[in-house]
Amino acid sequence: MHFPVMADEALSLLAIKPEGVYLDCTAGMGGHTGLIAQRLTTGLVIANDRDGESLDLARANTAQYADRIRYHQGKFSELRSTIQSEGFQRVDGLLADLGVSRYQLVEAPQRGFSFLTDGPLDMRMTQGTGMTAADLVNFTAEKAIADLIYQLGEERRARKIARAIVRARPIRSTSHLADVVLRAVPRTGRLHPATKTFMALRMAVNDEPGELDRLLDIGPELLNSGGRMVVISFMSSEDRKVKEKFRALGRDGRAEILTKHPLQPSEQETSQNPPSRSAKLRAVMMNGAS
Ligand SMILES: C[S@@+](CC[C@H](N)C(=O)[O-])C[C@H]1O[C@@H](n2cnc3c(N)ncnc32)[C@H](O)[C@@H]1O
Repeated sequence: MHFPVMADEALSLLAIKPEGVYLDCTAGMGGHTGLIAQRLTTGLVIANDRDGESLDLARANTAQYADRIRYHQGKFSELRSTIQSEGFQRVDGLLADLGVSRYQLVEAPQRGFSFLTDGPLDMRMTQGTGMTAADLVNFTAEKAIADLIYQLGEERRARKIARAIVRARPIRSTSHLADVVLRAVPRTGRLHPATKTFMALRMAVNDEPGELDRLLDIGPELLNSGGRMVVISFMSSEDRKVKEKFRALGRDGRAEILTKHPLQPSEQETSQNPPSRSAKLRAVMMNGAS
């Protein structure tokens, strides 16, 4: 079963018009895309994802609404040309549900996102291009590894972990890396000690902070007046960026903030889908052409 995170909240804040044009920047497994498409009549939704395999999955999962969906492979930084290639300058609503999908994390061990199953240390969302996680851990200086685990993973024990990584090189697989981290730092709370390290490496490999910056810059410019932008994030560093951008849009009179405080999933949702528990959702509505 696939539960799109905070679907009711996202859909209601997007205020879908049956004839509107929507951009799902993170189609993933097609959960939100399908729910948007379901509400359309003459409208359409552009389902975008940088991961071609995920896009295939989204296509299969939303086949019943395929006539209202345009599937597109691309990164946030390419969104302007994505909507232009579908014949639009602006859209009525834009949704971004950040991070990785359950498919990438759990169902595709060969993609190397998870420490729970063995796989190659890859972690690239756009397959086949750019640096892999193995390149990063095996060829980066210890201090740079420590900095990225500390900054992106919000991991206090980053220096110890980086030292252990460098000593254990070459690191060949996800299980090998998880084991190195586990031996370097003791298990404290509920989280596996490698959780934050894996998250940090994934964010670095995919330049997720840079991609989010570009999404927040470009997104508002792609919206019609009255158009809505909804962002769901899972890291406090990401939510902070979204909050600051939305506040700046509000201050400049370009948008109205629709969520004074971030919305979080209901207890019912977190018990049904525990990974949703760290989700924070923020939304704005554009005031005029920007
Ligand atoms: C949490 S999942 C989305 C799940 C989706 N909302 C659903 O209901 O099935 C996030 C997706 O965003 C994609 N993604 C992450 N960063 C991206 C970027 N910079 N550009 C395009 N897609 C990105 C990932 O490949 C992943 O499939």
